[in-house]
Amino acid sequence: MNVLILGSGAREHAFAWKIAKSSMCNKLFIAPGNAGTSELGTNVEVEVNDFERIKKLAIDEEIDMLIVGPEDPLVNGIFDFFNETEDLKHITVIGPSKQGARLEGSKEFAKEFMQKYNIPTAKYEAFTKNNLEDGFAFLDTLNPPYVLKADGLAAGKGVLILEDLKEAKNELKEMVADGKFGAASSTVVIEEFLDGIELSIFVLTDGDSYKILPSAKDYKRIGEGDAGLNTGGMGAISPVPFADRFFIEKVETEIIKPTIHGLKEEGIVYHGFIFIGLIVNGNDVKVIEYNVRMGDPETEVVIPRIKSDLLHLFKGIGDGTFSEKDLHIDEDTAATIMLVSGGYPEKYEKGKVISGLDDIDGSIVFHAGTKQEEDAVLTNGGRVLAITSFGINIEDALSKSFANAEKINFEKKYYRKDIGFDL
Ligand code: AMP
Ligand code: GLY
Repeated sequence: MNVLILGSGAREHAFAWKIAKSSMCNKLFIAPGNAGTSELGTNVEVEVNDFERIKKLAIDEEIDMLIVGPEDPLVNGIFDFFNETEDLKHITVIGPSKQGARLEGSKEFAKEFMQKYNIPTAKYEAFTKNNLEDGFAFLDTLNPPYVLKADGLAAGKGVLILEDLKEAKNELKEMVADGKFGAASSTVVIEEFLDGIELSIFVLTDGDSYKILPSAKDYKRIGEGDAGLNTGGMGAISPVPFADRFFIEKVETEIIKPTIHGLKEEGIVYHGFIFIGLIVNGNDVKVIEYNVRMGDPETEVVIPRIKSDLLHLFKGIGDGTFSEKDLHIDEDTAATIMLVSGGYPEKYEKGKVISGLDDIDGSIVFHAGTKQEEDAVLTNGGRVLAITSFGINIEDALSKSFANAEKINFEKKYYRKDIGFDL
């Protein structure tokens, strides 16, 4: 099969790494990709939302399967675009339909869906500038901290958690009336704050049957002890030790089954990943969010633990045999740590030469923001490299990643040394 992966991060490098191992993979393309993916397939300078150029690429290279990494093209309807275009409709697309992608593209839609199908989540209400006063009144009924979420995609910045009621009211007004996050915040979901420990569960589905992938926990803050600004993710661990068989069974019964049932009831076509963000408090498990793609950096620990041929599973989604396929998971623990550019997630510089990549021993390096320039690999983003290792436990896996993190150098390299500290 000829496969095209859309995206340019470590998540897409991890997909490429896994797909390239498949005996079913003939040619592999990554658009736009990074220096890491260029070693596994052909990078093509096409942006993930440029559907016309993706179409041309898919036809020219006789692509059989499209794997969509990030959420944007899914929310923009790339699945439907392929399905409705004569020359593309034979291609298997891994990613939900536009309607399914609303689970991530609209927080209000996701909350309504959860409410309708009795999926446990924080209580909420949604507001626009037309009922701003009701929004203020709803905030008055809640206890701090206050959780405000822009309805639409806001590059991961659309969630505000505020201690002060006055500030919460002011932010609500700025979001709905003053376009703080543009059209994405013309509707705002306000919800009850949930206390507890976060983790993520990933499901692969053809919209009818499903397979539960390994659990993972990511570390979003820039600073140690989960302090400072939010980032795209500074590291991840899989599996999450407390997510044992009993826990997963509970999540399956209370959350996964009703989610798949709801998709079917709504007539939503869904061929891809569901990333379920959970908050656990004692025996209580609630959904904080759905994402309609894999997480990053979670992919860098989840995908390496899958022993089965991923392309074989994906092909099953395309040809209706998914339910017959087996999923085998490596029992070992995987940990990843993210090397980032100094200054990230605020201002940082790109174009720094990366050295030491050839000295890595016992880890897998997934490129996040890199580019190849002649013989050099340069930094090309805030998150630069994810270093994944296996071990018999978290410490064992992390110690390998940390040892290799020391061997890689670029100016102003930074990484968190406490990934997994709370587990
Ligand atoms: P989201 O973009 O929905 O993933 O939200 C970003 C982060 O905000 C989550 O990873 C949580 O840490 C936090 N968060 C979102 N909703 C809630 C909530 N209802 N209670 C507590 N924390 C939340
Ligand atoms: N690691 C969180 C995300 O991918 O959204």
